[in-house]
Amino acid sequence: MCGIVGYVGPRLASPLLLEGLKRLEYRGYDSAGVAIMNGKGVETRKAPGKISELERLVTAAPIHGTLGIAHTRWATHGAPNFCNAHPHLSCDNNIAVVHNGIIENGSSLRQALEDVGHTFRSETDTEVLAHLIEEFFDGNLEEAVLEALRKVEGTYGIAVVSSRDPNKIVAARKGSPLLVGLGEGEYFVASDVSAILAHTRQVIYLDDGDLAVLERDGYRIIDMQALPMTRAVNSIDWDLDMIERGGFPHFMLKEIFEQPTTIENTMRGRLLVEEGTAKLGGINLTNEELLEFDNIVITACGTSWHSALIGEFMIEELARIPVEVEYASEFRYRNPVIGPRTLCIVISQSGETADTLAAMREAQKRGARALGIVNVVGSTIARESDGGIYIHAGPEIGVASTKAFTSQVIALALFTLRLARLRGLPAEEGRPIVEALQKLPAQIKDVLDRADEIESIADEFNDAANFLYLGRGYNFPAALEGALKLKEISYIHAEGYPAAEMKHGPIALIDENMPVVFIAPHDSVFDKVVSNVQEVKARGGRVIALTSRSEPSLAGKIDYEIRVPETIDMFTPILAAVPLQLLAYYIAVKRGANVDQPRNLAKSVTVE
Ligand code: G6P
Repeated sequence: MCGIVGYVGPRLASPLLLEGLKRLEYRGYDSAGVAIMNGKGVETRKAPGKISELERLVTAAPIHGTLGIAHTRWATHGAPNFCNAHPHLSCDNNIAVVHNGIIENGSSLRQALEDVGHTFRSETDTEVLAHLIEEFFDGNLEEAVLEALRKVEGTYGIAVVSSRDPNKIVAARKGSPLLVGLGEGEYFVASDVSAILAHTRQVIYLDDGDLAVLERDGYRIIDMQALPMTRAVNSIDWDLDMIERGGFPHFMLKEIFEQPTTIENTMRGRLLVEEGTAKLGGINLTNEELLEFDNIVITACGTSWHSALIGEFMIEELARIPVEVEYASEFRYRNPVIGPRTLCIVISQSGETADTLAAMREAQKRGARALGIVNVVGSTIARESDGGIYIHAGPEIGVASTKAFTSQVIALALFTLRLARLRGLPAEEGRPIVEALQKLPAQIKDVLDRADEIESIADEFNDAANFLYLGRGYNFPAALEGALKLKEISYIHAEGYPAAEMKHGPIALIDENMPVVFIAPHDSVFDKVVSNVQEVKARGGRVIALTSRSEPSLAGKIDYEIRVPETIDMFTPILAAVPLQLLAYYIAVKRGANVDQPRNLAKSVTVE
């Protein structure tokens, strides 16, 4: 959730660092700072608030130097203010550290360091690292960093510079992503490839326990015992304009509109049309192994948890194997019944969510195989899972997840098809599913073509205080996701509920001020949903209905209609998600909210 970028090479560091920070701003944006070697010592600038605040400071008082590190923060320890912004310095100001993650034994280390005379200037756990490295420093920065890290419990991605060993950046990783970028006669370190993609496509993803030393004439990677390590160089094929807004006012809108393409990318090369199934190269499971599982547990957080619920319905319906969906944050602490005969599916856009990663490790520890459904290639979950399905949705910058959600559902459908075939689903039943998948990109495009209609509905509701989203079957998770999108970006209180469950509580909330969004495509539970619409209408609620055809049974019962194309039941939540994303987006924009960086949220939550 915080972002790190570092540079060593022939160019001035500060513009490169600021540019990198701006690309990382979505990862954390409550304060930022840089530390640059200016030829005499370490010079820092820090500012609470957005990167633009820091940029103003650096423009007013430029720092001349060609080696430096920078950070954008999302507070976990201590308020987002000047003192707590990174970089943090040693007592003598000779060592500067930027850090993502949490030092779990930070308080006891701090006490011990204070006892031997160190003075702290912030409330952060990170500052402990600066003092600890100072304590061990004896002329060689990487040796001091290694010594310090041996004392540390917790997670970190760090970059360190020192004016007493001034020609290097030392970077290290344990549990927090970090990569080294290899340019032409210059080197970068970053927590995320987007920070450096404008300058190089050649990157090395550091593994946990790796320490990298970047100097002007080369780089080295060593392990915690200082033994040299060799790591593969990856070529990144994401274009820079893929991570820019592409003419849209917000990343979120761009990403919503990308969905015809992104879901196509998720399916690309994986559909076996005639056989009515899918092939998945990365799951690393033979047919025999796939048949050995007794049950499946899917674990995730946030939007990914909603796609997991849809996966549960699909897999149980077609592959007839018990599936449980668990919040990753709960799963890891409740002694789950899980072992070698359980397949654990882990869903994460970022592949870095701390709770999800911990749940996966817990499942693996208990002998389960873990399959990751992940977007970010080379992310920790992708690397530590036993196999997986990349969703290939491309970088998702908007904090509220949109295109990753629809691609996750597609990936789950592909997996369902594969597993269901093995467990007896005949080709003639698989084929219509594959055909329905193939139609989805064009159907999403149809929905997007009607964005104006959704925007005009948003006009009517941007002053609402509450919203209720109701759906049944496959569209109960769609209701949850619709409500989550709205509350995340517009700050309107919204709840998703199974439509029939409404009468056991939420019905008490319904009056003429309560907008109720019904997800009511013409599916197998449509008639049931109509009764629920009636219950709301009878109490004066304002009904917005997502429908897929002109329904006489709804005549006179709905106030606003959003039409979506027809598909088979299992894909209705995909076609529902898109207009619900747009509805949330337009309402938030009309309320003047910062859609791409909603308050208090972070794109990738790498703390527990
Ligand atoms: C954060 C984001 C959500 C996201 C969740 C899980 O809370 O704000 O949009 O759904 O993390 O993220 P993941 O990367 O694991 O899918």
